[in-house]
Amino acid sequence: MTAEDAVTGRWVDPMGDIDRSPMSESLVTLIAQSCGNDAHVARAREMLPLLSLQAGESVLEVGCGTGVVARELVRLTSGSVQVSGVDPSALALEQAATETATADLGDWADRITYRQMAGQALTFRDNTFDAAMCSRVLIYAADPQDIVAEMVRVVRPGGRIICVEPAHQFWAGVDDVLRDKTSAFTNTDIGRDCLGCYDGLGLMTSRSRPTSSSARLCRISTAYAPMCSRIGG
Ligand SMILES: C[S@@+](CC[C@H](N)C(=O)[O-])C[C@H]1O[C@@H](n2cnc3c(N)ncnc32)[C@H](O)[C@@H]1O
Repeated sequence: MTAEDAVTGRWVDPMGDIDRSPMSESLVTLIAQSCGNDAHVARAREMLPLLSLQAGESVLEVGCGTGVVARELVRLTSGSVQVSGVDPSALALEQAATETATADLGDWADRITYRQMAGQALTFRDNTFDAAMCSRVLIYAADPQDIVAEMVRVVRPGGRIICVEPAHQFWAGVDDVLRDKTSAFTNTDIGRDCLGCYDGLGLMTSRSRPTSSSARLCRISTAYAPMCSRIGG
């Protein structure tokens, strides 16, 4: 989701500050369309069970955009968990609220609250949530490790965290135009670098066993391949 700069003709990444972009409205439309498409929703359905959410728990989605994944979290848990979606973009959150109100969620819609907030400066207290996740957010962020650190801070010890970000190899074999677009992401290599973020924060991956009862378990899903076909579309 990069965009061509009208003056330089170069591809730039405006996703870190949508509301101040001259293309803000079309960016929100783009998020609603590309994150609302079948492939993205299917991927969310595949990944979200990794959070192992139990009835009565609370989950934070950082960078919730237009709320596609937040709504899937509610569906996945049959309305039995509280979902907090945060995003720095007021415009995206407006769209999230509208789409949630008109979605087929019935009373479950009340399980979602949206708040304007940047991932690197969450205003929640420590240990507020049982789990946290982000999906296609760190790739656009200037400070991905700070965002993951904040997710760790607000999730209780023993909680679960997932970051779903595109794998580096998603652009292998793509044409030059698409490569130009994808290389404009702020963190093109995030699918690989996520692991460094986790290591730097002392998190354990799902392949590791917790070594103490207070350890935070970080379950990760870093790679997904079909990204390039949707960037190009
Ligand atoms: C491609 S959308 C993904 C939306 C949603 N996570 C999904 O998968 O449907 C990227 C979102 O990341 C948000 N974002 C960008 N920088 C962020 C930051 N520093 N903290 C939190 N969210 C951020 C953008 O505002 C945008 O809504």
